Amino acid sequence: MTTLDNDPGVSHSRGPKVQEILKTDTRPVPKALTEFASPYVGSEDVKKARYTSQAFADLEKEFMWSKTWQFACLEAEIATPGSHVVYDVADESLIVTRGNDGVVRALHNACMHRGTRLKDDDGTVASFVCPFHGWEWDVQGDLKNVPGEWDFPQFTHGSKPTCLPQAKVALWDGLVFVNMDPNCEPFEKVASTLIEHFKDFPLSKRYKAFHAVKEVPANWKVVMEAFSEGYHVIATHPQIKPFCGDENSEYSIYPESPFVSRFFNPFGVQSPHIVEQLTEQTVAAEFVAFSSRSRGYSDQSQVQPPDGIQARAYVAETFRERMSGMFRADLDSYTDAEIIDAILYHLFPAFAPWAGIGQPLMYRWRPGRTPDSCFMDVYRMAPLPDGEDIPEPAVTTKLRLDQAWKEAPGMAGLADVFEQDMSNFGFVQQGLKSTGKKTVTFGNYQEGRLRHMHKTIDTFILQGLAEAGRSADEVAPFLVGNE
Ligand code: FES
Ligand SMILES: [Fe+2]
Repeated sequence: MTTLDNDPGVSHSRGPKVQEILKTDTRPVPKALTEFASPYVGSEDVKKARYTSQAFADLEKEFMWSKTWQFACLEAEIATPGSHVVYDVADESLIVTRGNDGVVRALHNACMHRGTRLKDDDGTVASFVCPFHGWEWDVQGDLKNVPGEWDFPQFTHGSKPTCLPQAKVALWDGLVFVNMDPNCEPFEKVASTLIEHFKDFPLSKRYKAFHAVKEVPANWKVVMEAFSEGYHVIATHPQIKPFCGDENSEYSIYPESPFVSRFFNPFGVQSPHIVEQLTEQTVAAEFVAFSSRSRGYSDQSQVQPPDGIQARAYVAETFRERMSGMFRADLDSYTDAEIIDAILYHLFPAFAPWAGIGQPLMYRWRPGRTPDSCFMDVYRMAPLPDGEDIPEPAVTTKLRLDQAWKEAPGMAGLADVFEQDMSNFGFVQQGLKSTGKKTVTFGNYQEGRLRHMHKTIDTFILQGLAEAGRSADEVAPFLVGNE
């Protein structure tokens, strides 16, 4: 075993670097893809209790989830007045809805009488009526009717506010974000690098072709972290090693926009973990055969790439053509990386849109009822078909803890890879409760973004405690750092 203790936080992987691979692309590469930054963010361990303790989950809820910008829904899902999506996170709930004035609002989903949750499901209404005693609000959130109002002069004669409390709303490129902190930083500042980079990958030119949300038996950070690094490919997804540059993935944290980071996993190149040199034909053939399942292409499992091809260019062209037909859109200008690579941005705390369109996915993670569970959303954001009406957003499939991803109609072969990831989570969560070693140890480069995310959570909690006049001792046992 060799050790490389100089330049911690820098890639020492074998195999070509992502930026070198991009130079071989057959189309102009969007500028955003060439912008990378990998600051060293430390080597400290992370306490296991951060994933398992109710006390830490409570601190996250009080000082992080209540103060960060979170993706709630697509504007297309609330296109008409009264249409709404219920966004739940860590015991809080918002009704994200469009008023008769066209304005998008995020109304706190709790009756002002005795607290009842007003809406449990997405839908369209003329007003919001509490199921308990029938108090009613219009779709702008203003109180409209109180049965027996003579008994509530506090509300009906103006001594109490009558509209449902609102969270902040930001609209970006067809997406709706919410923040429950009235004094939060503007979304545009927090997400600046994401906004800038996605000018090259406009989400408003896509539509929601698939959406499923599933309860998963592990802490939200466990699940999110598994979709934030390529290090686990070698053991969890060994079938993709012949055509996946796992170890030579690129990881970026943008110092000027520290809530934004990126995982760039090149495809159409063999894993550096495979010692023998595969031929370009083998890499291409394995990739096409695999993707005929995972991307829902048919009749491509027997493709024999000709001599003299370059695997990336060949596969990208094959998929570009196939996807143009599948999406009924001309994808000729999309470069090879956008067609075949996994380019996953991350906006703190838990929203992750893919930049390319080979797998045009978006992920979201939210804490569950206990530290041992969470909810993961998967969206497929397909390119808009050329010259056709914008398709209606797909209906959301809700999967219980005991259901498999493949039970969601439209998940296709993607479910196989997801189930490989899912098979780890119960064991991870269980092992995090083992006290033999009290910390997890992240790699300096490949898992640096994970460490950075934990440190950002700590910043929110420490600042929140200070502002509340409470002692930092409350979080001290959990802070990132060695035992
Ligand atoms: S709790 Fe809502 S009307 Fe009584
Ligand atoms: Fe995975």
